[in-house]
Amino acid sequence: MIIKSLEHLNQISKTISENLENGDCIFLIGEIGVGKTTLTRHLINNLQTQKGLKVTEVLSPTFNLLYEYEIKDLKIMHYDLYRLKKAKELDHLGIFSENEKTIQIIEWPDLIKTPLINKLEIHLEYGKNDNERKMKIRGLGKWKDFENEI
Ligand SMILES: Nc1ncnc2c1ncn2[C@@H]1O[C@H](COP(=O)(O)OP(=O)(O)OP(=O)(O)O)[C@@H](O)[C@H]1O
Ligand SMILES: [Mg+2]
Repeated sequence: MIIKSLEHLNQISKTISENLENGDCIFLIGEIGVGKTTLTRHLINNLQTQKGLKVTEVLSPTFNLLYEYEIKDLKIMHYDLYRLKKAKELDHLGIFSENEKTIQIIEWPDLIKTPLINKLEIHLEYGKNDNERKMKIRGLGKWKDFENEI
């Protein structure tokens, strides 16, 4: 599908965040600057609003690899694995060690081969215009038919 603007991205992210619960995992796939962190920011801020909390800053975990957010009963782990070179380095991060208790949002997930039950893969590409993006979705488990909902 075509995302026409940042406002449109926000609408889509609302539909996603309304369905998010601990145990879910989102893979964000696409080139540098295509909008993976921007989408994550919308998801987290929408969850905060839905749960009656104030929205917070959502920065890119480029250098830290991970930022965590507690949103009432939800715990979000936002990863950016761009700098990882080997799958072995994933072990040190303890990624997925508590995945049924958290929501994992992962930019640059290429090295991850762990099979996951409730996974939503979002592929982003640049579009014709500046603020336009192409989005493709592949869902597993509870996200299997989600494509038809947005
Ligand atoms: N429709 C859109 N969807 C997403 N981002 C958009 C859109 N239109 C414009 N943008 C802009 O594109 C930029 C996306 O940057 P962002 O940091 O989110 O990319 P990224 O994919 O996380 O990059 P990186 O691979 O470096 O982590 C932002 O400046 C954002 O405002
Ligand atoms: Mg990013």
